[in-house]
Amino acid sequence: MATDKHYTLAGVMGWPVAHSRSPAIHSHWIRQHQLHGDYVLLPVQPEQLQDAIRGLRALGFAGCNLTIPHKVAALPLMDRVDPLAKRIGAINTVVVEKDGTLAGYNTDAYGFIQSLLDAQAHWRADTGPVTVLGAGGAARAILVALAERGAKDIRLCNRSLDKAQALAAEFGAPIRAIPWEQREDALDGAALLVNTTSLGMKGQEPLALSLDRLPKQALVSDIVYVPLETPLLAAARARGNPVADGLGMLLNQARPAFQHWFGVMPDVTPELRRLIEATL
Ligand code: ATR
Repeated sequence: MATDKHYTLAGVMGWPVAHSRSPAIHSHWIRQHQLHGDYVLLPVQPEQLQDAIRGLRALGFAGCNLTIPHKVAALPLMDRVDPLAKRIGAINTVVVEKDGTLAGYNTDAYGFIQSLLDAQAHWRADTGPVTVLGAGGAARAILVALAERGAKDIRLCNRSLDKAQALAAEFGAPIRAIPWEQREDALDGAALLVNTTSLGMKGQEPLALSLDRLPKQALVSDIVYVPLETPLLAAARARGNPVADGLGMLLNQARPAFQHWFGVMPDVTPELRRLIEATL
């Protein structure tokens, strides 16, 4: 019989958070590895974030994930922030260390790269130019991930050019800011196309983009996962491009977080994918 000492508690803090798939993902792994623990929803309003983060230790949590709108605001509340998360400027994982200190990590960069590798085992960041659409919060982890993996030419297209320029200035080479109107020119010779905007998401307009100029072997990635097959991915698949969907990133970002708290690096199995797909 396990004692309280071995019971591991984690969760996802957000506002709103009811729609989060994280409890289903982590609970699946807890069951699969026959661990004694739980992963729960933690609805926390922005004004309560500091109290909630401080409360993790008192409540015996091993840590938590953070989602909208807490990923940036939680960073200064940590005792220690992983250098990669610092560069990204946001954390999605809090770990309560044995001595009670709070460490912040960002596993979105890992999740994104792993989703590309799951789609194409031989994928490399330095095989050709990369075109990234969108310069919001999600783009930051993806840009840092691509730069870390050795991308040499990143074409960053955003509706508000100033935001793309600000990211190019902050992260430096190899990122170049490109006006939204030139997004189709930016597909010429690209080896990877990534949509980090909300366009194509259920209830939003589709992304208006002709893929005519994109090489057929380019990998096309969309971080939107509702619907799983966005109009962008459907168009890419129809012309023969390899694709990586947004569920791959969601499932893979959860893996290192689970490892931090539960001590096991879990896998993204077809069974887990089916389980979460059924909730989309
Ligand atoms: P996230 O954290 O998901 O990245 P965000 O920070 O609000 O969310 O960023 C949303 C991204 O989608 C931005 O790049 C945004 O472009 P702007 O910076 O110009 O706002 C982009 N986006 C949202 N709606 C768009 C639209 N209708 N056309 C083009 N880009 C859009």
